[in-house]
Amino acid sequence: MSAQEKHRLVVCSAEELREGDRRLIELDGVEIGLLRAEGTCYAFRNSCPHQGVPMLYGSVVGTMLPSQPQEYVYGLHNEIIRCPLHGWEFSLKTGKAMFSPAVSIKMYEVKEEGDEVVLYLDRQPQSITRKQFACVL
Ligand code: FES
Repeated sequence: MSAQEKHRLVVCSAEELREGDRRLIELDGVEIGLLRAEGTCYAFRNSCPHQGVPMLYGSVVGTMLPSQPQEYVYGLHNEIIRCPLHGWEFSLKTGKAMFSPAVSIKMYEVKEEGDEVVLYLDRQPQSITRKQFACVL
């Protein structure tokens, strides 16, 4: 399904999702978390595939990359979200777990278009709710 065939949903203004901000919406009973990190907007299902904890409370981090013995190489700065309960880490770019590509969180197509943050969905949701979200990290 191309972007032109998808349902376009404005979720907030760009001003409402500034660097480090987080927003929570619910579409047809499914919570979707939004955040901006390093200038990029991300949208993902707000549920960890391990035990269902809200991922929006997770830290946005980088990680140590594979390297030679006695080398320590940090990378993927602010491209990973870490589950707040047991620490599973997922790529914000792909949704895949860092420990296995077979485990993932669902990512949604989201774009910043002018002063709007827009979700592109496979179908039009019947109910849309903006939820209160507060995170003290
Ligand atoms: S609930 Fe997320 S890692 Fe366990």
